[in-house]
Amino acid sequence: MKTVKTIEEVRRQVKEWKAQGLTVGLVPTMGYLHEGHASLIDASHRDNDRTVVSDFVNPMQFGPTEDLDSYPRDMERDAALVEAHGGDLIFAPEPEEMYHDGFSSFVDMTVLTEELCGLSRPVHFRGVCTVVSKLFNIVQPDRAYFGKKDAQQLAVIRHMVDDLNMDIELVGCPIVREADGLAKSSRNTYLSPEERKAALVLSKAIFRGMELVRGGEKDSAAVTGAMKALIEAEPLARIDYVKLVDAATMQQIPTIDRPALCAIAVYIGKTRLIDNFFTEDV
Ligand code: PAF
Repeated sequence: MKTVKTIEEVRRQVKEWKAQGLTVGLVPTMGYLHEGHASLIDASHRDNDRTVVSDFVNPMQFGPTEDLDSYPRDMERDAALVEAHGGDLIFAPEPEEMYHDGFSSFVDMTVLTEELCGLSRPVHFRGVCTVVSKLFNIVQPDRAYFGKKDAQQLAVIRHMVDDLNMDIELVGCPIVREADGLAKSSRNTYLSPEERKAALVLSKAIFRGMELVRGGEKDSAAVTGAMKALIEAEPLARIDYVKLVDAATMQQIPTIDRPALCAIAVYIGKTRLIDNFFTEDV
């Protein structure tokens, strides 16, 4: 397993593999890897001959008041995790390698991005689409792996791949949770011990929502209302959104009469965490 920092090195390695007839999986990450990322690397290792993990905190997807500077980084730990899970190459470029002086081309999307995280993070998906397109062009993988915790991101990337005829199979992998239910996230490291306890309110709300849907509740407001009441009872929590949307369009629906996504974003202190469930999976 090796780590490279330049586009040229990745291209050279991938070309060599492809010349040998090997398939390549890509796991795009922003580093500070945890078991959620490990499950993506495992899936890629299972499906492909070689796995590339990109490890790049993409400045373009952070808003001006967001946590770009404090985003956790630990390359040594990341390298050990990638190796342990069968990854073959880490691509860890500096920002200048990805965005040279005068960089001025972007991939933007006019649907799917106006709801949920797109509302409170207006530049986020343009940054995600641009960097993921670049990574796809650089690595040219057969398959790429994304976590379902970022459900809107996965829907946006699927749409982009379809719109732009990218010849890549996308694989969405299930949310990985801590033993007590909290969805794994690099941002969990921001939480103080007291906040960590309070953060459990997200998964509790998700499990409550799932229980209601499983019991046959079709009224979106009844589901989100019960979830909001639970979150609002936690003094350290502040709701960004708790919504039920059409899983295909990301538009809010009053009644659960089609495959839907229930997604939440909640601030615990200053840390914004997300979680979700698909009604089809309950
Ligand atoms: O999900 C993430 O970690 C990032 O949004 C991604 C897909 C690696 C793009 O920077």
